Amino acid sequence: MVLPEDPKYALKKVDEIREMVDNDLGFQQAPLMCYSRTKTLLFISNDKKVVGCLIAEHIQWGYRVIEDKLPVIRSEEEKVRFERQKAWCCSTLPEPAICGISRIWVFSMMRRKKIASRMIECLRSNFIYGSYLSKEEIAFSDPTPDGKLFATQYCGTGQFLVYNFINGQNST
Ligand code: COA
Repeated sequence: MVLPEDPKYALKKVDEIREMVDNDLGFQQAPLMCYSRTKTLLFISNDKKVVGCLIAEHIQWGYRVIEDKLPVIRSEEEKVRFERQKAWCCSTLPEPAICGISRIWVFSMMRRKKIASRMIECLRSNFIYGSYLSKEEIAFSDPTPDGKLFATQYCGTGQFLVYNFINGQNST
């Protein structure tokens, strides 16, 4: 975990990784609200490569995703295809939240090995000293289709919390 008060070389590395992640996501991410309060988790492989990155920030509110009614779907593949195509909507009712996942990324060759899940577990026990965050206290920033599929599985519901969904206007 890299914290804002860590040495410059570590912060520089985090900046480089964030830039690469933003390019990989392929669109302009909402800017971080307050750099001095972010926590960055890096997942380092056995051969010492950064294969996962999670950037978290303090937030106050999240908004619940409104789940669409699924058409009759026969296979898992169909479900994924449907999820990728459809837009998502969320409630306008703010709900208290503590931790915003601004970015979560895993190297493409290493996906579906529970790296993102392990990074979130680590985040939950380290974001606030001495407390373990519940899944209800976490929100995802403007999730991508991959992010939505992951968050639905991780949170155990498609109605997880999101924030930052209109160019950061709703962030706190
Ligand atoms: N399609 C369908 N289900 C997915 C999924 C996908 N692309 N990614 C994750 N899941 C679900 C699966 O149920 C998975 O369990 P399983 O592999 O046993 O079926 C479960 O979530 C846990 O996934 P995990 O292995 O912990 O996730 P990951 O390490 O592959 O990382 C992302 C997930 C989203 C971080 C990764 O796909 C990624 O980096 N994508 C590109 C960047 C991005 O879009 N980030 C999200 C920003 S909100």
